Amino acid sequence: VKIYIPRDAAALALGADRVAMAMADGIAARGLSATIVRNGSRGMHWLEPLVEVETGEGRIAYGPVKSSDVASLLDAGLLSGGAHALCLGKTEEIPFLKQQTRLTFARCGVIDPLSLGDYRAHGGLRGLEKAVAMQPASIVAEVTESGLRGRGGAGFPTGIKWKTVLEAAGARKYIVCNADEGDSGTFADRMIMEGDPFVLIEGMAIAGIATGAIKGYVYTRSEYPHAIAAMEQAIEIARAAGVLGASVLGSAHAFDMEVRTGAGAYVCGEETSLLNSLEGKRGIVRAKPPLPAHKGLFDCPTVINNVISLASVPIILDKGAAFYRDFGMGRSRGTIPIQIAGNVKHSGLYETAFGLTLGEIVDEIGGGTASGRPVKAVQVGGPLGAYFPRALFDTPFDYEAFAAKDGLIGHAGIVVFDDTADMLKQARFAMEFCAVESCGKCTPCRIGSIRGVEVADKIAAGIAPEKNRELLADLCNTMKFGSLCALGGFTPYPVMSAMTHFPEDFSPAPAVEA
Ligand code: NAI
Ligand code: SF4
Repeated sequence: VKIYIPRDAAALALGADRVAMAMADGIAARGLSATIVRNGSRGMHWLEPLVEVETGEGRIAYGPVKSSDVASLLDAGLLSGGAHALCLGKTEEIPFLKQQTRLTFARCGVIDPLSLGDYRAHGGLRGLEKAVAMQPASIVAEVTESGLRGRGGAGFPTGIKWKTVLEAAGARKYIVCNADEGDSGTFADRMIMEGDPFVLIEGMAIAGIATGAIKGYVYTRSEYPHAIAAMEQAIEIARAAGVLGASVLGSAHAFDMEVRTGAGAYVCGEETSLLNSLEGKRGIVRAKPPLPAHKGLFDCPTVINNVISLASVPIILDKGAAFYRDFGMGRSRGTIPIQIAGNVKHSGLYETAFGLTLGEIVDEIGGGTASGRPVKAVQVGGPLGAYFPRALFDTPFDYEAFAAKDGLIGHAGIVVFDDTADMLKQARFAMEFCAVESCGKCTPCRIGSIRGVEVADKIAAGIAPEKNRELLADLCNTMKFGSLCALGGFTPYPVMSAMTHFPEDFSPAPAVEA
């Protein structure tokens, strides 16, 4: 009998290691026979630690399990899927999971993340097997036709980026995976690295073969120790099995990779800053052009893609571009792992085709607020994303639809706030965040964000509120159009959306006029 207890950082934070230890002790004390598998997370955070047992009818789930529940679970016949107050029935039938379309996350939470055999048995390596037999330009064409766009946030077509690198002249080329997941409320990159690291390795190897790069780097942050350990072990296993190395899967293609860890500066998620950090320099933004695709790491043509973009490639190669492109709406093709967080009942990762409305995601899938109070605002796309009021809940999850409402889907993190949120404070926080994280290279961001905090404070104090609201909007305009990178350029989104949709929070009781 196999018992699955996640090794994912979110489950560990909720006591999964203690549960696993109690389970091992309980099994031994009762003389039972069972194997504990430390899997990734299924992404249902409110049910973690989620314990699953393999039975003849499929996996039965129990959660959230505490170590003190283990004895009663074993006494209730856990190993045969016995009834218990914590029993959730078949895992695959839990509505939050059942309604998803899991393409990129198909194996996450299902397999042992560090078993290459398990990975293969669940469809892994089929994409790479096809890729090694294809011409680089055909691989690029397949990715282009799939409609895959950069999942890091900007939504640039992945195939076009790869084509630029394939056609760029350079003795050396690189694949860089941006795993510096810095957006508030996002965890998709971490979950893949911890729960299915081989899919990222496979995606990077395919990218290498498609563009002529033989070396790849995963750039992640020191705050992700479990992801780093899982990636490093998976790379070693893949190398030993001939998936990486001088002859990828026995072919004439070479590809190898390693993990590099940054100290966790938000701006190091910006691609050119990341490249500087990877080269051992300070994480300061470089001016574009040149694009990294032309002159990236060590001035060589470089593919730099987010974890989810790369992890979505194996299934595209395996099942074909048309299969992937069939999901989604408009120019947003395929699936997107939405990360639901903040004040919400059912938080976690929900992979689905583009097109659900924000209201469906927050009210139906997320189940509304955890506090039980009305939802006031939802921030979509990280700390630089816009706040959406209920009035915009009919916006479909799609790059263009969000842009049309002065927002962005970014890395697809959504953070829910109830009616106790003060949107002026949230706007001030955006400016403060920008001031703290600014690399300092350009004036609108470095100075503008500090002035932004001061102006927000004046509005809060009731000092010339009308004049200061105008000043704040003017400042946002300067930052939006005058900043060198998205940090300064996107900070106006949360500020302006808060001011536009929640004007009442920007009109505090009048105080002294100055
Ligand atoms: P961008 O629009 O400047 O570029 C997008 C990507 O396309 C880049 O990799 C760029 O090099 C590439 N590109 C553009 N034109 C190209 C061409 N002609 N040929 C080949 N490649 C080309 O956007 P940027 O500044 O890279 O990213 C901004 C986004 O980052 C925001 O939308 C935000 O949502 C997101 N973001 C994500 C975070 C996370 O934690 N994942 C954190 C902060 C921001
Ligand atoms: Fe640096 Fe901010 Fe300018 Fe970006 S916008 S280059 S983070 S100072």
